[in-house]
Amino acid sequence: MKDIKIESTLTVYDSFNELPSDIASLMEKAIEARKKAYAPYSNFSVGAAILLDNNQIVTGNNQENACYPSGLCAERTAIYYAGSQYPDAKIVRMALTAGSRNNQTITPIPPCGACRQAIAEYEVKQESPIEIYFMGETGKVVKSNSLANLLPLGFDRSFL
Ligand code: THU
Repeated sequence: MKDIKIESTLTVYDSFNELPSDIASLMEKAIEARKKAYAPYSNFSVGAAILLDNNQIVTGNNQENACYPSGLCAERTAIYYAGSQYPDAKIVRMALTAGSRNNQTITPIPPCGACRQAIAEYEVKQESPIEIYFMGETGKVVKSNSLANLLPLGFDRSFL
């Protein structure tokens, strides 16, 4: 028997203003997308912006439904659109921002487990890491160099 230790290294920026300009402009797109979210039930809006290696930017936001489980998170709305429109493009990075209508979100909001699994699929498919930047409405921004850092022991096609 032995223990194994799983470690991830993340980078934390003090604020949006500390981001390199190309990342800040991708995050701006995520913020614009967040403002267009359809979230009448949770009042929690999420925006995602994806940069592809063909320089296209794809955005998405959460889309809720009166039948709650039929709604979809911002990350999957965006990544499935990217996958459907640009099946041969690689995803370079994703910028994510989340905010509640009830109170200002100042902590970085990471993607949910289901979205991590969905993003991981594309990382495996394209055989290169996807950078993830995530924040609340304001405050610190967290960067992960790859989705795998956020989903240790992930399930992928190699097990099938
Ligand atoms: N949501 C996202 O869009 N992404 C996440 O990673 C977490 C949650 C959405 C789903 C739902 O519309 C609202 O946020 C509250 O859970």
